[in-house]
Amino acid sequence: MSKIRFGVWAPVHGPRAAAQDPLEPYDASWAHNRATVLEAEALGYEATLVAQHTANPHFAERDQLEAWTAAAALAAVTSRIEIIAAIKPALYHPVVLAKMALQIEEISGGRFAINLVNAWNRAEFERAGLPFLDHDERYAYGREWLSIVERLTRGETVGHRGAYFSIDGYKLSPAGRFRPRPRIYLGGESEPARALAADHSDVWFINGQALGAVEALIADVSARPRRFEPLRFGLAAFVIARETEAEAQAEHRRLIALAEQDKPAKAIQKANTDPKVVMFQTMAKQSFVGTNGGTAAGLVGSYDQVAERIDAFHRAGVELFMLQFQPLRSEMRRFAEQIFPRVGKTAAAPLSSRYSEAR
Ligand SMILES: Cc1cc2nc3c(=O)[nH]c(=O)nc-3n(C[C@H](O)[C@H](O)[C@H](O)COP(=O)(O)O)c2cc1C
Repeated sequence: MSKIRFGVWAPVHGPRAAAQDPLEPYDASWAHNRATVLEAEALGYEATLVAQHTANPHFAERDQLEAWTAAAALAAVTSRIEIIAAIKPALYHPVVLAKMALQIEEISGGRFAINLVNAWNRAEFERAGLPFLDHDERYAYGREWLSIVERLTRGETVGHRGAYFSIDGYKLSPAGRFRPRPRIYLGGESEPARALAADHSDVWFINGQALGAVEALIADVSARPRRFEPLRFGLAAFVIARETEAEAQAEHRRLIALAEQDKPAKAIQKANTDPKVVMFQTMAKQSFVGTNGGTAAGLVGSYDQVAERIDAFHRAGVELFMLQFQPLRSEMRRFAEQIFPRVGKTAAAPLSSRYSEAR
């Protein structure tokens, strides 16, 4: 099994758990994102995920970092960390996006990846006068889009006639200088998302949820036929790690209470959400802070408990842990100091049964 890698969500729209936190002022600036990712790299984190939202999806009046221009700039200022930029296919033509991806691959020296996400926020599209297709049709579009991007980023000459795109002998250069192409991640939980992940991605991102649910998802998707190497798995999770479990639970309660203040914004977000998006159906069944499942992954506890649970997810097949923290910088540091040295040292059988009890 591949070794564990840790990544950090870039603070593209400020704090992940609660927007109004005396310990973490709202900051979605380039300066904050740059400093965070540089520090993450220095601490030994191996990836960062730059989510894509054109306007802030929670608070219309608040700042939002632009993913692709920021990813290019991050590629230029960092030297080791993998930079993963999310992309909603309906926002860019695949030829233009493939060219942008190849340019960032070049700037980063082979450290760039895309994360295909198929959109839930109707307002982002409809307020711009852009069509927002029905859920499954978004995936039909995304599938055709990704098949073109995949070939173009390999440097192939692409001719394509499909339902959505018509491409006539297009070839992009430079390509393939560092590896066959930039890596492809995919985030989405519905049936068409799983099928697309198996057919066209390298790594499938799972929303934070309990170990048993993650094991079932991995079993489902890894049983599907593949053209490429076996699919790998990433997990989104919000971490609260402390010396003792009681301290971690107290901090969880602090963040849950603060998140209550964001209820009006969450109501707007809910009104803008496509109800067919499976991700939100899964998240509605769980209680957590953070986004994309957040603390529902169970990484709340003592340092030893958090390390044990990470090892249990790793044994289940998760390779990359894409983490959220609040306050981000100090908690990211704490995790590197306390959890990095503990993972990979916990024993299998008794710990996984302890984890099941904790769930
Ligand atoms: C790790 C991860 C990252 C995501 N990043 C974004 C993002 O940057 N922007 C966005 O609009 N949605 C993002 N999403 C949400 C997807 O758009 C969402 O899962 C999508 O609507 C797919 O719907 P489905 O769950 O019904 O397949 C992300 C999802 C995951 C799992």
